Amino acid sequence: MNLSQECLSNAYNVTSAFVNSAPKAERKKYGQFFTSRKTAEFMASLFDIDYEKPELRLLDAGAGSGLLSVALVEKLRKSGYNGKITIVCYENDGKILPVLKENLDYLSKGLDVIYEIREDNYLLSQYFSESDLFGDEVEKYDMIVGNPPYLKIGKDVPEARAMAEVCHGAPNLYFLFWAMGIHNLKDGQELVYIIPRSWTSGAYFERFRQYLFKNCVICHIHLFGSRDKVFDGEVVLQETMIIKIKKTSQKPKYVEMSTSETSEFRDVKRYEVGYNTIVAANQFVFLVTNEEEANVLGRINSQTDTLKSDNLKMRTGIIVDFRTKEVLRDSQVDGSYPLIYSHHIRNGRVSWPVGRESEYIVTSRRGFLQENSDYLFVKRFTSKEEKRRLQCGIYLKSDYSQYKYISTQNKINYIKCDTPELAYGLFVILNSSLYDSYYRILNGSTQVNSTEINLMPVPSKEIIRQMGRELIGKELTEQNCNNILERWIK
Ligand SMILES: C[S@@+](CC[C@H](N)C(=O)[O-])C[C@H]1O[C@@H](n2cnc3c(N)ncnc32)[C@H](O)[C@@H]1O
Repeated sequence: MNLSQECLSNAYNVTSAFVNSAPKAERKKYGQFFTSRKTAEFMASLFDIDYEKPELRLLDAGAGSGLLSVALVEKLRKSGYNGKITIVCYENDGKILPVLKENLDYLSKGLDVIYEIREDNYLLSQYFSESDLFGDEVEKYDMIVGNPPYLKIGKDVPEARAMAEVCHGAPNLYFLFWAMGIHNLKDGQELVYIIPRSWTSGAYFERFRQYLFKNCVICHIHLFGSRDKVFDGEVVLQETMIIKIKKTSQKPKYVEMSTSETSEFRDVKRYEVGYNTIVAANQFVFLVTNEEEANVLGRINSQTDTLKSDNLKMRTGIIVDFRTKEVLRDSQVDGSYPLIYSHHIRNGRVSWPVGRESEYIVTSRRGFLQENSDYLFVKRFTSKEEKRRLQCGIYLKSDYSQYKYISTQNKINYIKCDTPELAYGLFVILNSSLYDSYYRILNGSTQVNSTEINLMPVPSKEIIRQMGRELIGKELTEQNCNNILERWIK
């Protein structure tokens, strides 16, 4: 075994001993999940090394036992980098600090590295600002590697307040670490992080994405096929990815994509996807894993409208049933109105009532009711096992003309339509295979988020109406929707 491998083996053994001795519940408080040895090596392998630089300053924020630092230094030395290496590690959990010190001591002796451990809060010990006004005062690094803590925090905790510019609502520590990493990165240099997938879409991360793309471009994304094997011996319910970004405004032509089933990296597949296919004009990030998916994105991203711009916004149902029990009824009574749940969506239509409890609402509160109109309803929640993520049903007011109002439970989304043609046309779109695939690429979770749906590229309202006319009178099957859609979206 050569010296560098010895450093990594040593660090790995020391880390494993710590993991086995520290209870998981205790580590969870700090968002502590340790990277596996293979993952650390893979992350280090993604950096482009500038051999001409006489000195490299490295940063590992939330260093834990320092495994990522050790793997990166090992990679630098092994590939022939002979300049000076300085590494700064931030870690604020006193229990892991002796382990970190032991690993970095060993590393500094073996591979000629200067290290500094900052027993401080990475996010609060420096001033974050979106503007570069204080650029000269910010400490900058040539390479930043990290596995930041995954922890949702309140919007009023000090970390969220200090970085309010990138937050919208309650943030997660991982993207605050990422934003601070970008802040600490020298121009033209790279950052490699292992993070959850949730930042790629959705309103919570919009401000962060704006900050990311104002400063950086994506160079590489690695995705795992199976989510429970990424962290050594740990089951982590978040789906993770490894990402390399570069601080520059020059977009590369392609993003390098790679996949492997597990963090053993035995079966790595690589491919290139056009930059604008991965990073869409609306700054959503699409995790394309093959040519077929790139094709889906190409077809949909060529559409010019959105539901929002067509004035067909999807909204979330208004009634939280367990909080409004007093207005719910199990059967028709005087003055009651239909309350629509996601279980009323059946075979492309809304079938109400079906004989389940609380299907009626009696209220004079206008905020609990909505106009009886034509609608397209879409389930908000589906299970991983279900074939389709987008499951919708057409509701026509003419089927329930005795009611002035209806109401909706908050586990269903709805789009109000002014004609049946529009409801049928939206059904063609949202019940097609193409849009279901698109939504899966956009959002790895099983929830249907109306903000995302409202920003999906769709045809114009007139074309949607036309598609609806073509569907009326036919069976509401996925195949019929695909046949119609294919004529309009090439
Ligand atoms: C997900 S662990 C990763 C550890 C290590 N980098 C690895 O990959 O194995 C995140 C680490 O960040 C530390 N941490 C959490 N919040 C921190 C903060 N605000 N400042 C510095 N370190 C923090 C935790 O104690 C934990 O060790």
